[in-house]
Amino acid sequence: MIEIRPMREGDMDVVEEMGTVSYPPNYYEGSASFRSKVSGGGCLVGLVDGVLAGYLMSFPYVLGIPYPINEVYVPAGHPECHYIHDLCVSSCARGLGLGTALAEVAMSGRPMVALTAVMGSEGFWEGLGFRRQFGLDYYGGRATYMLRVLRQGSLGWASCLMSASACPNRIASDGSIDGSVVV
Ligand SMILES: CC(C)(COP(=O)(O)OP(=O)(O)OC[C@H]1O[C@@H](n2cnc3c(N)ncnc32)[C@H](O)[C@@H]1OP(=O)(O)O)[C@@H](O)C(=O)NCCC(=O)NCCS
Repeated sequence: MIEIRPMREGDMDVVEEMGTVSYPPNYYEGSASFRSKVSGGGCLVGLVDGVLAGYLMSFPYVLGIPYPINEVYVPAGHPECHYIHDLCVSSCARGLGLGTALAEVAMSGRPMVALTAVMGSEGFWEGLGFRRQFGLDYYGGRATYMLRVLRQGSLGWASCLMSASACPNRIASDGSIDGSVVV
């Protein structure tokens, strides 16, 4: 069973370890950088059968600018979108849908979501509705800035966004999560 819930202070050691082993050294995020982003309000962990197996870090940010790596989080004064800074699934839990579940919960209720795709993950993000905007060299690696913009339909934003079955009654209008959701 997959469960998604907000990241807590007690998760940070596992999250940091997972990030450090999953990314090459040029994408290393120090402890202060990791921990500071939890205050951004969009950090989640994913559990598979009760075991923490993935995480996602996101926060409001400005459009068109990749967020720096290994910097202490400072909230943007005039955010224009929601930005997914880091999505990581433990190598032994990949292919189970956990990355998709984390991203869908982070994106829900947010009409404009941006990110910088690294390590050849563009295809994964395209599968979630993101479109390539521009390529760049990101800390020595090839990366692509991507954007997902939803148009408001007759049933409203939420109808376009939700596919996680238990989400609607657990996600507030500002996108924050009440408790955990099972997807
Ligand atoms: C990318 C990542 C988060 C995907 O997580 P996951 O839980 O394995 O993904 P899912 O099981 O939800 O896969 C959903 C779909 O995306 C595809 N997919 C997974 N990783 C992919 C990748 N790197 N490139 C293209 N497609 C990918 C899967 O094959 C699957 O396709 P399907 O629906 O046709 O079967 C995970 O591989 C990871 O943590 N990689 C290392 C860190 C990383 O690259 N993060 C993204 C940085 S921007």
